[in-house]
Amino acid sequence: MRRAIVRGTGHYLPERVVENSWFEDKLDTSDEWIRARTGIERRHFAAEDQRTSDLGILAAQAALADAGLDAGQIDAVIVATSTPDLTFPSVATMVQAGLGMRRGFAYDLQAVCAGFVYALANADAMIRAGLADRVLLIGAETFSRIMDWTDRGTCVLFGDGAGAVVLEAAEGQGTSADRGILATDLNSDGQYRDLLYVDGGVASTGTAGHLRMQGNLVFRHAVEKLADTAHRALDRAGLTPEQVDWLVPHQANLRIIEATAKRMRLPMEKVVLTVADHGNTSAASIPLALSVANAEGRFKPGDVLVAEAIGGGLAWGSVVLRW
Ligand code: ACO
Repeated sequence: MRRAIVRGTGHYLPERVVENSWFEDKLDTSDEWIRARTGIERRHFAAEDQRTSDLGILAAQAALADAGLDAGQIDAVIVATSTPDLTFPSVATMVQAGLGMRRGFAYDLQAVCAGFVYALANADAMIRAGLADRVLLIGAETFSRIMDWTDRGTCVLFGDGAGAVVLEAAEGQGTSADRGILATDLNSDGQYRDLLYVDGGVASTGTAGHLRMQGNLVFRHAVEKLADTAHRALDRAGLTPEQVDWLVPHQANLRIIEATAKRMRLPMEKVVLTVADHGNTSAASIPLALSVANAEGRFKPGDVLVAEAIGGGLAWGSVVLRW
């Protein structure tokens, strides 16, 4: 059977680190409130001249180095982002050019915070279908560009960054055939548009707009839907939650992550957490968490990982893979 296995991971976080206390003299908020309600302690913000593609290129280079591959050996580049440099061309083609890649194909995928899970499912389907042997997947965001800095309910939550994963086709019997993406589960329901959206765009206001969120309602949907999608993907993979070694959740809020782990009956020692240091980096949060944990040597060959995310749309989903 042909499967998509992880060959390498990498990430990039902008140099500027902003602690929760930075917001205290600008807004009616506190480090204590932000930590207690979200688990976030700090986040990175891109420099003024740094674009999403710049972050994506640096994360991609790190993933290629980890995989021991040159850009010329990649067949496709997918960038999951909701904060592209320009309306077009895609960030992915900019990354392709930045890597010096003159072959293959590149495109962006937009499913907000669920973007990387959608991209994993997309790349898995392409690899299984034989459209590509090696896919470079990147989640890259500069959400600091769409914050309303007067809205304490949103601007304290998000950060900038990029993570990348190289997926490669593996075929035949044996160890490598047992590894890789085992199952995926994707969902969306557009009736929830107003819970989480950006109030601008080329075809409406002609402006970039700002992020708007009814946080407590998104919270409720997250707690309900994330464990459900993870259970569905595990079912499809023929696995049970007891067989999961690592939960790699979208890093939006520690309380959502804890509630999801509880519903899956997973101890928190099995959960990869980066939310304290990164904040919510939307589509970048899962590849960032994967890359950080991989660099720490936490995943062992054969480990079962579940990645799950929910975001604007609402759009949500999960991926089960064997490391
Ligand atoms: N500092 C102090 N007080 C605040 C702050 C802040 N930064 N933000 C909100 N508050 C206040 C509110 O104004 C409200 O005050 P009131 O009672 O006087 O009206 C009070 O805190 C409680 O507000 P809630 O919104 O009910 O607080 P909640 O406990 O739900 O926490 C939060 C808010 C952190 C936003 C939470 O709802 C959350 O994390 N939601 C989910 C966000 C998420 O996961 N998004 C995922 C996808 S992101 C994407 O797709 C781009």
